[in-house]
Amino acid sequence: MFTPPFILSIAGGGSTYTPGIVKSLMVRLQDFPLAEIRLYDIDEARQNTIAPVVEKVIRDHSQSIKFTVTSDPEVAFSGAHFVFAQMRVGQYKMREQDEKIPLRHGVVGQETCGPGGLAYGLRTILPMVELIDLVDRYAHEKAWIVNYSNPAAIVAEGVRRLRPDARVLNICDMPVAAMRNMGAILGVDRRRLEVDYFGLNHFGWFTRVLVDGEDKLPELRKHIATFGLLTEDAAKTDPQHSDPSWVKTWRNIKPIMDHFPEYLPNPYLQYYLMPNQIVEHQNPDYTRANEVMDGREKKLFAAAEEYKRTGILPDAFHVGVHGEFIVDVACSLAFNLHSRHLVMVENRGAITNLPYDAVVEVPAYITSEGPEPIRVGQVPLFHQTLLQQQLASEQLLVEATIEGSYEKALQAFTLNRTVPTMEHAKAILDEMIEANSDYWPALQKAWQDGE
Ligand code: G6P
Ligand code: MN
Repeated sequence: MFTPPFILSIAGGGSTYTPGIVKSLMVRLQDFPLAEIRLYDIDEARQNTIAPVVEKVIRDHSQSIKFTVTSDPEVAFSGAHFVFAQMRVGQYKMREQDEKIPLRHGVVGQETCGPGGLAYGLRTILPMVELIDLVDRYAHEKAWIVNYSNPAAIVAEGVRRLRPDARVLNICDMPVAAMRNMGAILGVDRRRLEVDYFGLNHFGWFTRVLVDGEDKLPELRKHIATFGLLTEDAAKTDPQHSDPSWVKTWRNIKPIMDHFPEYLPNPYLQYYLMPNQIVEHQNPDYTRANEVMDGREKKLFAAAEEYKRTGILPDAFHVGVHGEFIVDVACSLAFNLHSRHLVMVENRGAITNLPYDAVVEVPAYITSEGPEPIRVGQVPLFHQTLLQQQLASEQLLVEATIEGSYEKALQAFTLNRTVPTMEHAKAILDEMIEANSDYWPALQKAWQDGE
């Protein structure tokens, strides 16, 4: 363990999430004291646009924290104790491709699920490994990378394969977001919930939701049967996910639980269990990437512009579970708190009927040496089988990335539940290879060489 105050670097400093994360850090300075915050991004222009907003957020709370903005990894990581990673390789422009190409073939177009997620994985695994190596070279030898970079399940598996000893903790805010909604429905603070959960990232189930030792899943089931995982007034539940597409996503917990009421699914299971309805409701010319570019991103850029002009920062970003969660996790890593959180971790027998070395998402106690997963035991055959198939798709994708193998990429696409036939898989993959020519040179060569 190292002594506070800490040096924290944010890799992907130009992200729309950065001001919210920094705000969360500022309100928790007592718990997580900081000497310096460094923003690091390879897109200097984008980071320079967002940096003044971040600086303002810091200065509203502290005059003493040093603030550094850089594209030089040595400056970014030298002596750093924590790195929060949130890279988006290809930015929203490539997310748009990930979503629109499958949709043109009648297949789910999504950032982290289905072919879009697989494509995003092919872009992200190697840059993530590069980042780990830079942190390894320059940062404190016990530094922790807390990683939000998507597609998290695939990134985590890639890291496990390529850098098994790296001090990286892969996290996702979806389970906590679901717990926020559960708390709102039950009328209790989400921090009072203790949940049991198993699965992969964006592919799992809550099996128990305890409040003071009592399982509230039966009460939630009743509510979900009418409203989905939202309060009666949806806007009240969920300021982060208040766009209509997210409201629909939370409501879709209802049809899934109408069919399978036993466990409460991660909302991303809608893409695997009801792909046809999803495709029917998606506009192939205007997907979530467009919504985000025209919404969250535009709003933040406009606010940065206005702040530059007037010195007044408009309310332009959201502070919620996304920022709170990464700070909670970092506190537990920093001070060996053993707090219980849902994170990605190597299975090592936690789920007895999934492979020992699979990366799973389960509750774990976060210590300064990393997560200690809680034993889940055996999961039912239905869930085990869904998980195995998804895991195989993701593992083949990782192998395709490492080996530059076209055939393994095609197998990964074909195995994915969202893809109906091998012809769909091939047509989508081939179009994606062309769209990703700047990112997947090895795969493109293998495709052209017919390997
Ligand atoms: C949740 C998920 C993230 C995902 C994000 C997308 O927070 O956990 O993995 O990136 O939603 O949200 P957006 O608003 O960009 O569609
Ligand atoms: Mn996520």
